[in-house]
Amino acid sequence: MPENIEKFLNRVAEAAERSMTLSKPVQKHDELRNIYVKPVLIKEKRLFAFTYHYERRDEVKNYDAAQMLDVLKEMLPCRFLNAVLFTVDEDVTLLVSSKGKATLQTKKVQECREQNLEHDKQKARLINPANPWWYQLGLTTREGKITADMQHKFKQIYKYAEIVESLVKPMKFEGMVHIADMGAGKGYLTFALHELLTQRLNLDVDIKGVEIRPDLVLKINEIIKADNLKGLEFVESSIEAYHPEQLDVLIALHACNTATDDAIASGIKAGAELIVCAPCCHKQIRQEMERSGRFDAITRYGIFLERQAVMITDTIRALILEYFGYKTQVMEFIEMEHTPKNVLLVGRKTSKNAKDPKVLQQIAELKQQYGIERHYLETALGLNC
Ligand SMILES: C[S@@+](CC[C@H](N)C(=O)[O-])C[C@H]1O[C@@H](n2cnc3c(N)ncnc32)[C@H](O)[C@@H]1O
Repeated sequence: MPENIEKFLNRVAEAAERSMTLSKPVQKHDELRNIYVKPVLIKEKRLFAFTYHYERRDEVKNYDAAQMLDVLKEMLPCRFLNAVLFTVDEDVTLLVSSKGKATLQTKKVQECREQNLEHDKQKARLINPANPWWYQLGLTTREGKITADMQHKFKQIYKYAEIVESLVKPMKFEGMVHIADMGAGKGYLTFALHELLTQRLNLDVDIKGVEIRPDLVLKINEIIKADNLKGLEFVESSIEAYHPEQLDVLIALHACNTATDDAIASGIKAGAELIVCAPCCHKQIRQEMERSGRFDAITRYGIFLERQAVMITDTIRALILEYFGYKTQVMEFIEMEHTPKNVLLVGRKTSKNAKDPKVLQQIAELKQQYGIERHYLETALGLNC
């Protein structure tokens, strides 16, 4: 191993509380674009969270200090040519040339970077269970302690808040941010969204929770009023009938079956910058596949038919988003132990108006292969694939 890489790794070992980036993949077209490393405290253990940024998804893995060094040895210089370590008082940059020559540069930093993980832990709290609405929504005791049977739900809410924060933070909004949470249900995630965006990201928001059940809408609006929450309101409506004039962010989490398609269609039509949905019960496509009687080696097994229907339903959704100029990612929402409905479709609007006929062709081929006549989202958007 070149001496400077060894020196760099020694610096990492000494300054183990710092963050780091690995970039410039050796293979130009490597799907893994870069890695961001930050120290975290998990169950009182100091670990390092590696966020692997792939072309279309992110993956996070936690390592202890020894494992971290092993991973770095694997990555440098075989996978990445650049690495920067951010220590308390300097940035240490490792640059490896294409011929394998490694150089090391250090730069003193001006700002104070004293780090305190406990402090970070406090700051990192995206959602505060002591806020009164969590008690009113039935997630906590009056004292703000999460109740035993709501622990899983709270983990899901927290994970959701983390993902939304990472998606929204880099976005630039002018003035009020218009958001619709379609199929908002009991409002857990809508309140989490409001708390995150107003209290942590200091955004001026207009969030509408769209829900078809009048009892829920009434109850939630009472809580909103009692807590005097600005920029949050529940609207009694079906997703199909709700047509927002202005929409920056569309959220639809576990809206049943084709309600997810109605939500996506509404987001696309309104030109939302960000579309985030976690699809639920994929009946429409499964029924079409069953009706066609065209089963292959996979789909002749009932459970696999069901899983394949889920994949096809969401793949076509992702392709349709791409067709309308959304860069689309499919990511895991939360571990399966907390909910089986764990896929998140994320579409970010790009400036290109794609409308690439090849995408429609891919959809047509999928439909043909599995005997599907229509995907509901095609109909909702007037497409004919
Ligand atoms: C499974 S819950 C999900 C609630 C919430 N988004 C979450 O993830 O915790 C789905 C909610 O969507 C509502 N819903 C289903 N179809 C709808 C439609 N077409 N229009 C409006 N709301 C709908 C249901 O009443 C239910 O409250």
